Amino acid sequence: MSASQISNRIHLTYLVDRATPSEDELHPGSDVVRGLSQTPKTLPPRYFYDDRGSLLFEQITELPEYYLTRTETEILKTCAPDIAKITGACELIELGSGNSTKTRILLDAYRSAGHPLVYCPIDISAGILENSAQSLLIDYPSLEVYGLVGTYELALEKLPHAQLPTRMIGFIGSTLGNLSSDECDIFLGQITQALEPGEYFLLGIDLHKSSQQLESAYNDRQGVTAKFNLNMLQHLNQRFQGDFDLTQFEHVAIYNERDRQIEMHLRSLSAQTVHLKALNLTVEFLSGETILSEISRKFDLGEMKELLYKKNLESVQSWTDPNQWFAVLLCRRR
Ligand code: AVI
Repeated sequence: MSASQISNRIHLTYLVDRATPSEDELHPGSDVVRGLSQTPKTLPPRYFYDDRGSLLFEQITELPEYYLTRTETEILKTCAPDIAKITGACELIELGSGNSTKTRILLDAYRSAGHPLVYCPIDISAGILENSAQSLLIDYPSLEVYGLVGTYELALEKLPHAQLPTRMIGFIGSTLGNLSSDECDIFLGQITQALEPGEYFLLGIDLHKSSQQLESAYNDRQGVTAKFNLNMLQHLNQRFQGDFDLTQFEHVAIYNERDRQIEMHLRSLSAQTVHLKALNLTVEFLSGETILSEISRKFDLGEMKELLYKKNLESVQSWTDPNQWFAVLLCRRR
C-alpha cells in the first residue's frame, strides 16, 4: 500500500481553545506547585506519561500480577461481536489512542459484521495519535481515521456529528478509576453532553477484589511499577529543572479498603529539600513523608450502572470475566 493511500485516510483536527487557554498553557506546572505545596503532598498522574513512562506503562500491562489489561482484552474478544450487533454501523471514538490491540478487537468485529470502519481517536499528542493510526490504516484498507488532537474535555465539546448512523465513545482500560469521585462525576457529565440520545458509551472498569491481589498488581516483583512511579520525579526534573534525588524516594502502593482504591505514593527516605528551578519552588520533605501520585479506584458493577443511569447513560449490556475481576459496560445515552 502506498504512503498516499494511507495518508488520504487519516484526517487530523487540532483543537485549541484560543478564547480560554487552559491553566497549564498559561502557567505550566502550576498543578505541580499546588500539589507539592499542600499537606499531604500530591502530584497529578498525567506526569507519569513522558516517553519513558509510557514505555514503562506498556511493560506494566504485560506483568503477570497486572491482570487488568489481559482480562479486559479477553472480555472484549468475547463481547465485541455482540457490541457490533447491538450498535450496528457506528463510528468508534476512543479517548486515548493507546492500546491498538483492544481497538483492533472492536474493528475486527465491525468488519466481520460488514459495517464501514470509521475510527476517531482523541489524544493530546499528535505524534502518538499518528503512530498508532499508521498500522491500523495498513491492516484495515477501508478504515478512515478522523483524529482529534487535544484534551478530552475540549474534544468532547467539539465532537463532529456522526457520518455513520450512530457513534460510540470508548473509554476502556479502567482509566476512569484514576479520577476522583468528583472528577468522575464531571467527566461522565461531559460524555453525556457529547452524545446524542441513542448513541453509545463503552466503558471498562476494574472491580473491587481482595487487598492481597490488588496490592500485588501494583507492587510487582520485577519492580516495573516502582520504576514507573519514580519516573514521575525524573520527568519533573527534566521538565522543570528539578533536583529530585531518585535514590531518596521509594514506591509505595496500598489498597484503601474503605475508599476502595489503590493509593500510590512516593515516600521520602530522608529529611530533604528539593528545588524545581523553573517553577521557582523549594519543597521540604520530612523523612517518611509521602506524595500521593495516583489513585486507582475499584468499582462495584451495580453501583456503576446506577451512577451511569443518574448521568443519563442507561446500561444496555455488561460483560465480565469468569473471575469477575473486570467489567465492560455498554450504555446508551437516554
Ligand atoms: C492507567 N491506569 C488505568 C493504570 C491503573 O491501573 O490505575 C495506571 C497504573 N498505575 C500503576 N499501574 C498501572
